[in-house]
Amino acid sequence: MTVHIRPLSIEDLPDVAGRLRAEFPSDAADERNIARQVWGDPHYEPMHNLGAWDDDGLLRGVLLGVVRSSRAWIKALTVGPEPSVPEALLESFESVLAGSLVVVIDVSGSSPVYLTPGIDPCDTRSTLFFTSHGFRKVGEAYNMVCDLTHQPLDTADAEQALTAAGYRLARLTADDQLALTEFVDRRFSANWTAEALDALHQRPHTCHVAWFDGRIVGFAAAEVTNPGWFGPMGTHARHRKHGIGRVLLLRCLADLRDRGYREATIGWVGPMGFYQRACQARVSRLFWQYRKHLAPPHDPMA
Ligand SMILES: CC(C)(COP(=O)(O)OP(=O)(O)OC[C@H]1O[C@@H](n2cnc3c(N)ncnc32)[C@H](O)[C@@H]1OP(=O)(O)O)[C@@H](O)C(=O)NCCC(=O)NCCS
Repeated sequence: MTVHIRPLSIEDLPDVAGRLRAEFPSDAADERNIARQVWGDPHYEPMHNLGAWDDDGLLRGVLLGVVRSSRAWIKALTVGPEPSVPEALLESFESVLAGSLVVVIDVSGSSPVYLTPGIDPCDTRSTLFFTSHGFRKVGEAYNMVCDLTHQPLDTADAEQALTAAGYRLARLTADDQLALTEFVDRRFSANWTAEALDALHQRPHTCHVAWFDGRIVGFAAAEVTNPGWFGPMGTHARHRKHGIGRVLLLRCLADLRDRGYREATIGWVGPMGFYQRACQARVSRLFWQYRKHLAPPHDPMA
């Protein structure tokens, strides 16, 4: 099949969402989320988000990508059923990257804006496609899910104990932006800062923080990476194991329940045991992460 590759435009959104939904039924491929994944990414470049059209003008495949300094990510690549389509898309993406500073292409979570933390290993077509096109499996990631319908999310007693110990738990306000940025940048990562600050776009803001001595010492956010997802969260190392994390988590889960979700996805999990104990979460999905090294550009100074 001959396909014509060109950057996606916002007019293509319904077709793109349709293709992604058909290919990845378990992922949140609604139009709003896809628009955010592509055009809402702070590093959005048209040539990194490509569509493949056939001679009849039908969208046959898409590659959603992003470049952040020397790394490129594929956020989504529709692989089936005609292998020449993803091949053409990948080739175009790689040719755009050729000669740039990009040294690797990752198929993993392109935080702060990402659709999934990797490829579902049950998606056989995708795993075979990537391994047969120079990608190597480099990691695994998990999502967990927790039921919000039978979950006691009341934190009053725990908050009382924390207040007695000098902590103040509160919903993030726009005035707290700098304090949150300084805390999360320094103790965790700038990507998590960007994800958490995205909560300021929600009403009410879906981020909660713990204050101690005039400083933020813990944070948790929801509804920022993908619809219905919880995370990121973090507590300052010196303030852990006091119950702050659990309270911030439950406050965020209550927000998700108030927004109408019956379950919450805890995306790209780290401390599985903590989530299992704090909100009876269980592992719901596994992802494999892939990387391909690109040939370095010729350096005339070398
Ligand atoms: C995960 C994290 C946010 C938890 O924060 P926290 O404020 O320590 O959370 P809590 O205090 O509510 O609970 C942590 C543990 O302390 C225990 N604990 C709570 N209060 C306690 C107390 N008074 N005495 C003893 N232990 C206590 C909890 O039972 C829990 O134990 P568990 O992990 O074995 O289930 C924190 O460890 C962290 O920032 N980790 C690094 C970042 C990270 O991994 N984030 C999650 C990404 S998905």
